[in-house]
Amino acid sequence: MAEQPIVTLNDGVSMPQFGLGVFQTPPETTAEVVRQAVADGYRLVDTASMYRNEEGVGDALEGRPDVFVTTKLGNGDHGFDNALRAFDLSAKRLRRESVDLYLVHWPRPRAGLYVETWRALVRLRQEGRIRSIGVSNFNRDHLERIIAETGVTPSDNQIELHPRFQQEALRAFHDELKIMTESWSPLGRAAFLSDPVIGSIAAKHGKTPAQVVIRWHLDSGLIVIPKSVRPARLKENIGVFDFALDADDLRSMRTLNSPSGRMGPDPATATF
Ligand SMILES: NC(=O)c1ccc[n+]([C@@H]2O[C@H](COP(=O)([O-])OP(=O)(O)OC[C@H]3O[C@@H](n4cnc5c(N)ncnc54)[C@H](OP(=O)(O)O)[C@@H]3O)[C@@H](O)[C@H]2O)c1
Repeated sequence: MAEQPIVTLNDGVSMPQFGLGVFQTPPETTAEVVRQAVADGYRLVDTASMYRNEEGVGDALEGRPDVFVTTKLGNGDHGFDNALRAFDLSAKRLRRESVDLYLVHWPRPRAGLYVETWRALVRLRQEGRIRSIGVSNFNRDHLERIIAETGVTPSDNQIELHPRFQQEALRAFHDELKIMTESWSPLGRAAFLSDPVIGSIAAKHGKTPAQVVIRWHLDSGLIVIPKSVRPARLKENIGVFDFALDADDLRSMRTLNSPSGRMGPDPATATF
């Protein structure tokens, strides 16, 4: 397999650009799926306390400090002290002294606690419990507020991003601030893999539609964490390091963007 790309976050931490997501991977099979992925060459795993499968990730990665682990603070754990406690529990479930990347999962603007929650992550990084701290589902105004009030810029913002919802404005803002963009639901939950534009690029390169979409994220400078529980798809999804999209392909992929492409909740109006 060709070498996997590594990106450098704004705090100097190195992170694989490709990895495995485990949202909706059942807790009882998570360890098996993650073990298989690591055997296939995956070096990044993305979990969250809300996925209820951190233990499975921890089991599979025992003795593998070389595999980068991201987890996220749950929506019920906002607030400074709550966040410190929630982190301890996540680290315990993952069986890690320190976590590579810890994200605030959602800003929950109605709860009004994301700034003090962010302060807790800053503290945990100072204490060496977390190597890198970031956020997820933060819009521009949420990012501006935590930076203005704490002086600390997140290293990463994990947001819904796929060919149907390309998030150009937020990505441009991230680039200004040197925040890494990480794509969640990068395959759009497989909803548009039969699109003819993707199909023709796949045929041209002798690759599958999923591989083309994953390659599009990599060639767009995004971190990409496709989820699968199936061994054949785990292998398929990592088989993306021996080709690249050209300028024509990237132009065609841009046409798939749609104003109604969002699949998940809007962080500004989510009611949880
Ligand atoms: N921060 C957040 O709020 C947030 C929200 C959502 C997701 N995420 C993260 O992003 C990760 C990925 O997102 P996601 O799980 O929502 O969606 P996704 O990765 O876009 O798509 C996963 C779906 O596609 C199928 N699939 C995987 N590989 C395939 C292939 N090669 N061909 C055809 N179908 C394929 C999977 O089915 P099988 O499993 O049956 O193969 C699953 O149904 C999550 O696991 C999680 O880590 C974060």
